[in-house]
Amino acid sequence: MSNVILEVRELTTKWVTRFKEDIYAVDHVSLKVEEGKSLGIAGESGCGKSTLALSLMGYYFPPLHYVSGEIIIDGQNITGMKPDDIRKSILGTEISYIPQSAMNALNPTQKVISFIEDVVQAHDPYKTKQEIYELARSCFETLGLPASVLQQYPVELSGGMKQRTVIATSVILFPKILIADEPSSALDVTSQKMVIKMLKNLMENGFIKSLIFITHELPLLYNVTDDIMVMYAGQIVEGGSAKQVVFDPLHPYAKGLMGSIIVPEQGQRNVKLTAIPGVPPNLKKPPAGCRFAERCKYVRPDCKVAPVPLYSANGGRAYRCILSEETLRAAYLREAQRDAS
Ligand SMILES: Nc1ncnc2c1ncn2[C@@H]1O[C@H](COP(=O)(O)OP(=O)(O)O)[C@@H](O)[C@H]1O
Ligand SMILES: [Mg+2]
Repeated sequence: MSNVILEVRELTTKWVTRFKEDIYAVDHVSLKVEEGKSLGIAGESGCGKSTLALSLMGYYFPPLHYVSGEIIIDGQNITGMKPDDIRKSILGTEISYIPQSAMNALNPTQKVISFIEDVVQAHDPYKTKQEIYELARSCFETLGLPASVLQQYPVELSGGMKQRTVIATSVILFPKILIADEPSSALDVTSQKMVIKMLKNLMENGFIKSLIFITHELPLLYNVTDDIMVMYAGQIVEGGSAKQVVFDPLHPYAKGLMGSIIVPEQGQRNVKLTAIPGVPPNLKKPPAGCRFAERCKYVRPDCKVAPVPLYSANGGRAYRCILSEETLRAAYLREAQRDAS
């Protein structure tokens, strides 16, 4: 049996707005990441990806609230731990999180090394500056970053270099799992590739034991993560290996996200072939049945009646749709044949 680094069981959390409205942005989400493995989480903006990342660290303060479920990190159940204890004994060492737009949050008046000193000394006040410098230098060099970056200010670094600096800093305490939230979204194509390569190298170099990579671009995850989960309106709608989800998506939403694939031909870069018409539902009042029904090409009256469970499918995968695998594949095939003719 391989070692499970992170297990989340039926986690539900909510935002409570100023008007006391509940927004269930993470709704009965379960996931597992084993040692040496990476998980990609994909879905359009507003589907709950960042809320899930915040929630699975067990670090809650208003307006985010825990509702139910369990979080187990490397065998330790952290559900219900006080925020102060989470901060002291979990964040940075067990689990490290790189928030969306983290590279813009670097303190512009602080040299990179001085930021790293703060991070390390918050966990180990007895480490000397010399020891921290040696640690940072070895970490940066292993990850292909010049040690000279340590003496620079964030404003002196390019976007790609800033993001790689943020990533190196996030693993300085050797966390068991790293969650990178849209780490490459704001970058040009070359920097994107370097950031992704660096994330993949973190595990090989022993900095982390597992990785969660969040993105709104599902196709990007192929070749980057072992497994993929697709989120829609706070729920998981599809989960499986990267190969299964990218090449043989079952849920119409996952299929739709794959339709916005990047075309590799010259002059056609970054062209979105199709976007899914419509917008995700309002999470203050989610629909009674399938949450994707309003936007789904294959919708039937049954879809809108009752919540749709996550069904297990062949090959250890899962999807949340009342249509059978065969029906969905046949529909996709008909469409592809029609488009080709
Ligand atoms: N601070 C907040 N207060 C209230 N609602 C929030 C807050 N942050 C996010 N939400 C809501 O939670 C839902 C999911 O958002 P988010 O997790 O940021 O999605 P994603 O990361 O997939 O774009 C959205 O409906 C959003 O409006
Ligand atoms: Mg987000």
